[in-house]
Amino acid sequence: MKFVAKTLFGLEKVLAEELAILGAKSISQANRAVLFEGDIRLLYRVNYMSRTALSVLMPVKEFWIKSADDLYRKCMQIEWDNYMDVGNTFSVTPVVQSQIFNHTGYAGLRLKDAVADYFRKLSGKRPSVDNENPDILINLHISNDKVTVSLDSSLIPLFKRGYRKEQAAAPLNEVLAAGMLLISGWNGSKDLIDPMCGSGTIPIEAGLIACNVPAGRFRKSFGFQKWKGYDPEIFRVTREEGDSGIRKSPVRISGYDISEIAVKQAVKNVGSAGLTDSIYLAEYDFRTLKMADNEGVIYINPPYGERLLPGETESLYGMIGTTLKHNFSGYSAWIISSNKESLKYIGLKPKEKHILFNGALECSFNKYELYQGSRKIRMK
Ligand SMILES: C[S@@+](CC[C@H](N)C(=O)[O-])C[C@H]1O[C@@H](n2cnc3c(N)ncnc32)[C@H](O)[C@@H]1O
Repeated sequence: MKFVAKTLFGLEKVLAEELAILGAKSISQANRAVLFEGDIRLLYRVNYMSRTALSVLMPVKEFWIKSADDLYRKCMQIEWDNYMDVGNTFSVTPVVQSQIFNHTGYAGLRLKDAVADYFRKLSGKRPSVDNENPDILINLHISNDKVTVSLDSSLIPLFKRGYRKEQAAAPLNEVLAAGMLLISGWNGSKDLIDPMCGSGTIPIEAGLIACNVPAGRFRKSFGFQKWKGYDPEIFRVTREEGDSGIRKSPVRISGYDISEIAVKQAVKNVGSAGLTDSIYLAEYDFRTLKMADNEGVIYINPPYGERLLPGETESLYGMIGTTLKHNFSGYSAWIISSNKESLKYIGLKPKEKHILFNGALECSFNKYELYQGSRKIRMK
């Protein structure tokens, strides 16, 4: 069976590596997606275990069209009763880039009509559309004249892990946080500090990696559980296998924040992810933070400046650079920010640079090595 795992820009390589470890075959990277092959067990496993997939699609038909009526006709030829019953509700997510359709919504409507008419012809009844909480989510992808109709096996996107109880002012997407850790090569073998942890997303994703906790462990459901032919026994075994490696964290993971409210939110989220014993949290101003050891990795997602006054961002980033140089020699630091001007005030030369997106914001995700007497760069 062929599948498509969707992800965020820049995470395709780490997702492909995850899929290979989970047992996927014929893996190939695309733009914000990774194509792979495997069986239904693998589909369940990827949904339950992958940290960097946003959703996993199962294509059911691929074809070419010349008109909107063509789309309707060819969608009527799909044997929908193989995947759902007339009693199921459904919804369509259209992704359309084509001259044939002026409105993306219209393409979705033609597919909805085809599903409804298919069942009406078969049984005299039609399934209802439910855009809020459907049983079956159909993905319609049209690129010029090429159409791919898929079922979304995740339904609720996989970044919604199920552990978040509290929302910070600017929380990182969980898939992005996990992707940052995997890009940096963090695998739970080095101590980790997030000195601006907000609601705790980076420490929690790190805790899940260190403790081998499947990313999907806290979710209530996955889309494939409503599919016709869903095998609960296979999924029970999938969960059991995934959970069998859970262990105590072998390393120290800490999160700090200057805001009392943020730390309280992080405490709740960490508790809900079952990681209270593995993650140390405290209220702290980064400028006064000092560690006893001189080895570990620091991840910082500082404010990008949208809510700060002019000049404040530069002094904040300058302070981050000074504190890293003075208090964290021996550490590696990774900083993600959309504010490329302010990043220069860190005053250290990045050893690696990656482009990632935090929502719509293009960000640099930079690595800095903090040896004694770190090299300075001239600020522009
Ligand atoms: C963009 S948010 C981090 C969001 C976080 N990654 C999450 O997923 O929720 C930046 C955080 O930096 C904190 N912060 C700003 N200045 C700080 C300082 N001097 N020391 C520690 N934390 C600081 C803010 O309180 C805020 O929670």
